[in-house]
Amino acid sequence: LGAAKEYIGIDAGGTLIKVAHETPDGAVRFHKFGTAGLAEAAAWAASREEAAIALTGGKAAPLQALIGRPANHLVEFEATCSGVRWLMRRDGLEQDSFLLTNVGTGTSIHHVDGERHRRIGGTGVGGGTLVGLSAMTTGVKEFDEIVRLASEGKRDDIDLLVRHIYEGSTPPIPGELTASNFGRWLQTGGSDRPENVLASVVGLVGETVATVSVHAAGQCGASCVMYIGSSFIRNELLRKVVAGYTELRGSRAVMVRDGEYSGAVGALLSLKRGGAA
Ligand SMILES: Nc1ncnc2c1ncn2[C@@H]1O[C@H](COP(=O)(O)OP(=O)(O)OP(=O)(O)O)[C@@H](O)[C@H]1O
Ligand SMILES: [Mg+2]
Repeated sequence: LGAAKEYIGIDAGGTLIKVAHETPDGAVRFHKFGTAGLAEAAAWAASREEAAIALTGGKAAPLQALIGRPANHLVEFEATCSGVRWLMRRDGLEQDSFLLTNVGTGTSIHHVDGERHRRIGGTGVGGGTLVGLSAMTTGVKEFDEIVRLASEGKRDDIDLLVRHIYEGSTPPIPGELTASNFGRWLQTGGSDRPENVLASVVGLVGETVATVSVHAAGQCGASCVMYIGSSFIRNELLRKVVAGYTELRGSRAVMVRDGEYSGAVGALLSLKRGGAA
């Protein structure tokens, strides 16, 4: 491995396959393969005969079987935490202690403190919920289409805000907080517009993720939540909901650039450290 000039880290997750590729000129490139891309990703990696390969994620084992030559294997959470540190350093965001929330198919939450990291927990509400609940309620199944429509929607007739409950008086907590996601549906008759329903689905997912993260941050004494995961890709609305809600609840939110590649970067770094194949 020490002699390799090319390094490939692959994070094969429940939905997407993320690749960090260091080419012989030392540049690190990112790309991903779609939902049904396991064979395609394996063929791509296998064709780079000179490259050292490291794998992580829930689908690492079936991917390894398809690649057909030995690769390094990493525990997903270790890869994710070391990778996100590299991305943070690249962007001048270094911090000692922070909360890391990975909004993948599901959502997992870690506390990173210096070299140590601990899994705090998570929630089953994540990117898979975003697409599943969107498809169920509106029939729209494509992630990009869900995001595009959601960004044109209004949540007013669907979600119940604190100020709706405290109409005419001063609420004890910010009136713009959601009191009940989808909780206004019966009072107003809801909405026929898929855009509005999708905006509320994004709201439900984003607010749940942010709320769980803020609580975990409080528990760990961390003031900042780093958000990563493909659910944020070209998804300005989810970013806004998550960052806005995190800050409204008193923590700092950072959306890590290329954060969805954290696991892949961590896998790549394991090769550069000369880990055994
Ligand atoms: N092109 C796409 N196709 C499908 N989902 C996408 C796409 N782009 C973004 N997403 C969103 O990203 C989510 C998957 O995120 P991510 O790739 O971080 O998870 P994963 O690593 O595959 O899953 P996990 O880590 O939970 O095993 C999807 O559930 C969906 O909401
Ligand atoms: Mg993942």
